[in-house]
Amino acid sequence: MTMAKRKLDIFATEDAHGPHTYQKFPIAVVKGRGALVWDDNGKEYVDCMGGYGVAIIGHSNPVVVAAVKRQAEKLITCHGSLYNDARAEFLDTLTRYSPKGLDAAFLSSSGAEAVEVALKLARKVTGKKGLVAMQGAYHGKTAGALSATWAKKYREPFEPLLEGVKHVALGDLEAVEREIDPDVGAVIVEPIQGEGGIMLPPEGFFKGVREICDRKGILFIADEIQTGLGRTGKLWAMENWGVVPDIMTLAKGLAGGVPIGATVTRAEILNSLKKGEQTSTFGGNPLACAAGTATLNYLVKNDMPGKAKAKGELFLDELRAMGATHKLTREARGMGLMLAFEVRVDIPEILNDAMRRGVIFTYSGRTIIRMLPPLVITGRQISRSVKVLGDAVAAEEKRREAGGVG
Ligand SMILES: Cc1ncc(COP(=O)(O)O)c(C=O)c1O
Repeated sequence: MTMAKRKLDIFATEDAHGPHTYQKFPIAVVKGRGALVWDDNGKEYVDCMGGYGVAIIGHSNPVVVAAVKRQAEKLITCHGSLYNDARAEFLDTLTRYSPKGLDAAFLSSSGAEAVEVALKLARKVTGKKGLVAMQGAYHGKTAGALSATWAKKYREPFEPLLEGVKHVALGDLEAVEREIDPDVGAVIVEPIQGEGGIMLPPEGFFKGVREICDRKGILFIADEIQTGLGRTGKLWAMENWGVVPDIMTLAKGLAGGVPIGATVTRAEILNSLKKGEQTSTFGGNPLACAAGTATLNYLVKNDMPGKAKAKGELFLDELRAMGATHKLTREARGMGLMLAFEVRVDIPEILNDAMRRGVIFTYSGRTIIRMLPPLVITGRQISRSVKVLGDAVAAEEKRREAGGVG
């Protein structure tokens, strides 16, 4: 007996059986290549959301596809209690490219998990439970990471979370110093706040935090989950400020789109965790590791950080030129290919309109349009994206004039 093939309604099925926790856009993406994706009707889009930064070397980059295919045919899973060649190669590659002295890593499956491990390490090494984080910070939504995240709307429904987390204003070195009481074991920062609105720190801030952490004998954690892997023009964003953290968290594009997380640190810090104190069934999965090695080598061999810097400058120049022609513009800012276009109004209509015109952007707060395109985006795709955004902003201005607002 043959079974009749059922045509699945993608939208109705996800809505009926999936969570309603994502800010969903009304398209179903079914294919991607480089900085382009296609929906189920075959319509093409430039993907400036880039999977929230995951598609760093482009969708289905051929080197990742080849590595995954090769590894899938050989061995898909191998628990951390056994040794594995793909895992060893990835650890070797990751620690060779990591900032000086960071020679060990705990591998996991997501950004939040990478942050959880960083927080556990800080407690274990220093024996102190407290943490200083930044206002506007985003570190993920598992309980520990959520405690360090700033937005009340994410935290409050789930309190009590971790005790002893204090948030200070980004850039306020005096506040950092003041809040580090004898119970605080670490300071956690994002080099550039992503969810918080593409916020850059004032000059000298991270050097100052590094100096305070050294003087107080506590750990400096850099959450590079969104900024790392070349996006800001350096392989690690902290290099822009000449600062080496004690712990660096990574995830997103580290395995070219395959789920992964990594907490990179010094061996002496990692080894404060004893047998059984931190494990993860999928941590160091061979498929993710093979994809990760291919991704890191691609990033370095093709100087993707250098390309991100040049393309980011082009993108920002074009955004500023376009922005100057619209009343609704507040500011265009960012570094490398981590960019924001801030306007004076709520942005859902602008985002939906841009999507209808063939470019996918995302939010970074109510009034901030965020761009995290693949680093392989072309100059032409950048110009197309800016043109579409300008048209969507102009349409919003027209709507507001017609409606008598603005
Ligand atoms: C800086 C930062 N930290 C942590 C996370 C959490 O990562 P995940 O969603 O993989 O748990 C994110 C996700 O956007 C992030 O941008």
